[in-house]
Amino acid sequence: MALNVVIMAAGKGTRMKSDLPKVLHKLAGTSLLQHVLAAAAQVGATRTVVITGHGAEQVEAAAAASGALFVRQLPQLGTGHAVQQAVPALNSGNPVTLILNGDVPLIRAETARALVQACGGTRLALLTIELPDATGYGRIVRDGECVRAIVEHKDASPAQRAIREVYTGIMAAPTALLARWVAALSNDNVQREYYLTDIVAMAVAEGVPVVATAAASETEVLGVNSPMQLADLERRYQRAMAESLMAAGVRLADPARLDVRGLLSCGSDVEIDVNCIFEGRVQLADGVHIGANCIVRDASIGAGAVIHPFTHIEGAVVGAGALVGPYARLRPGAELGEQVHIGNFVEVKNSTLAKGAKANHLAYLGDATVGERVNFGAGSITANYDGANKHRTVIGDDVHVGSNCVLVAPVTLGAGATIGGGSTISKPAPAGQLTVARARQATIAGWQRPKKVAKQG
Ligand code: UD1
Ligand code: CA
Repeated sequence: MALNVVIMAAGKGTRMKSDLPKVLHKLAGTSLLQHVLAAAAQVGATRTVVITGHGAEQVEAAAAASGALFVRQLPQLGTGHAVQQAVPALNSGNPVTLILNGDVPLIRAETARALVQACGGTRLALLTIELPDATGYGRIVRDGECVRAIVEHKDASPAQRAIREVYTGIMAAPTALLARWVAALSNDNVQREYYLTDIVAMAVAEGVPVVATAAASETEVLGVNSPMQLADLERRYQRAMAESLMAAGVRLADPARLDVRGLLSCGSDVEIDVNCIFEGRVQLADGVHIGANCIVRDASIGAGAVIHPFTHIEGAVVGAGALVGPYARLRPGAELGEQVHIGNFVEVKNSTLAKGAKANHLAYLGDATVGERVNFGAGSITANYDGANKHRTVIGDDVHVGSNCVLVAPVTLGAGATIGGGSTISKPAPAGQLTVARARQATIAGWQRPKKVAKQG
């Protein structure tokens, strides 16, 4: 069924005590608003309208790529007033309009879909939940089984305040009725606001059925109002992520010490030690082991590879059976073939290393093409940047680069070449031969070490 989605995002978020608009704060690496936009897309919204107000320009710029329409609400006179602003932007041909909150990020698409079904273009469907402490929420007032109204906390009588069933801020309404109802709202209440929730009593008065659907869990309807609540939701999200990975067979050393900020896909027999962060799209093939304290972003790690602790990987491909770290850094464009070894304090950027190549200690490979079985010595680097441009270093198969060498790009080392330790190589090194480019060692005969002169009285 063609669907409008309205996302309420005009509020200030005073309790965040931040200059950043509330809905742009991040949960699992993605803004709250992006989470809600993703849910709207999953539910099948054919028109999405975001109501902005505080920080409107920033919010609109951040969500520009979503294809949503933006409506500004200035000033903010309440949730009903917000929807009034959205009505002209709705597609009136879409029979149902779903209302979501920009600061309720973990709403599940299944739940929203069930609410849309419950509405069906003819009923007003409210998402509700029972809370042990309902303070601050709108209460669901029933007459027997039938929902009669939502009464805001500030307007509620002591008896109504005892009600535990609350409105989550999410509803699905027949589009034409919603438009008519919000146009008729008044602000005759304690807060002098136009309450969207007053449309429930209007529906009841007109004999339009009102149905309440219970949310499956508290997590999906919790809102973010403070840094504390944001951190709480982040932990709930991460816990759920850890549980779904473990259910798929991933062995986490500690589910409480894992952070996934994006999409992590794992093969079988993957092991992840504590305090690892995965960002963007990360793929771990069968049998990958990730050591403690690694940060992996937008990367693909091949079968059986071992990433030792404290390694940082971004925009890289690691081949099957490779060993990386501890304390290694793979930067964008690093492509390691099978069985490659990258050791401690080695940085690789925009370089390919073919099968079996090794750089085990204190090295930099930037803009390099490295052949099979190359051994790149400790302390050796490619000098790839001349201060203006980047240049490539090409190292053939089976080259052995000694320790503390500088390869001044552009330069080529032929297959099987050996480079003597301490060399600065700025011309091609021929294949299969030893090239040394450093001052010869000399011993000065009869040299005397200076002696300390005794000071005169
Ligand atoms: C609202 C509901 C309450 C429900 C609660 C759930 C009303 C009158 N009350 O209360 O029944 O239990 O949510 O969290 O709807 N917003 C605007 N423009 C405005 C006012 C709010 O865009 O003029 C947005 C806010 O940014 C927020 C959402 O609407 O995303 C809800 O506003 P908020 O002030 O948090 O609603 P409550 O008063 O808590
Ligand atoms: Ca309010």
